[in-house]
Amino acid sequence: MHVLSFVNQKGGCGKTTAAVNLAGALAAKGRRVLLVDLDPQAHATMALGWAAEDEPTVREVLLGEARADAALVSGPGGVSLLPASAALADFEDATARMLHAEGALRAALEPLDARFDEVLLDCPPRVDGVLCANALRASDTAVLVVETGAFALQGAVKALDVLAELRETLDRPFDLRVLGTLFDRRTRFARELLMALHGRFGEALFDTVVRTSVRLREAAAMGVPVQVLDPACRGAADFEALAGEWLADGAGGDGAARDAGASRSPAFQTTRP
Ligand SMILES: Nc1ncnc2c1ncn2[C@@H]1O[C@H](COP(=O)(O)OP(=O)(O)O)[C@@H](O)[C@H]1O
Ligand SMILES: [Mg+2]
Repeated sequence: MHVLSFVNQKGGCGKTTAAVNLAGALAAKGRRVLLVDLDPQAHATMALGWAAEDEPTVREVLLGEARADAALVSGPGGVSLLPASAALADFEDATARMLHAEGALRAALEPLDARFDEVLLDCPPRVDGVLCANALRASDTAVLVVETGAFALQGAVKALDVLAELRETLDRPFDLRVLGTLFDRRTRFARELLMALHGRFGEALFDTVVRTSVRLREAAAMGVPVQVLDPACRGAADFEALAGEWLADGAGGDGAARDAGASRSPAFQTTRP
């Protein structure tokens, strides 16, 4: 079981879209995939057409009130979902007096090891909260999702610094990768930014860049991964390519060699004083 989280302190950069649709693309390739929604906004849950009501959600799992396998639901496109609801918003307060609150997700996922090949974690738009801390402690790989728009490079460098520092404190450090999203090939600006990202992060940047696609928005609104809505569209093609790339070099292969924080990455080191 490989756990990968989608992080960025910025909202609207495509984290949820990446988590949901990479999950769909991996499932379409026959992988056993679990998507965990760690955002009280519950966008990933909605994007799989689910609305949690009285049944246990990821909140109860993290608080030790329910087992993960009791809270799982089957989503469309062969993706299993550990849903979130707005009630997750009080998680920070609820864990104020809890010991080891940041290790709750890792512990909860352990019994699912034989059941899933890939577990994708959709994080809230902040990297300093206890939810993201849970995600990073459970992660084999953290994917920084970067919108290829204005100020993206500065934001990405800062976010990667924070993540690289944080993982120094972990007993099981995650690999760091970077994914470019919302790419509009028609603008020179976006093309140049992509080159700058590549210059800075090198191999840690996924070759696949997720282009802007109306179908991705439509799929979210309809509550299905884009592979289910229209497997022939550009959005589906991008996530198919990303899934292929991930399976070729991420999950089992030379992830560490592509790590954005690895000492061998001179591009990353130049961000330090
Ligand atoms: N590649 C894309 N093409 C078109 N729309 C996108 C794309 N990626 C994300 N969006 C849209 O942008 C908005 C924010 O994306 P989302 O994945 O929810 O970001 P985050 O989870 O980082 O807040 C959503 O309305 C989503 O449908
Ligand atoms: Mg989101």
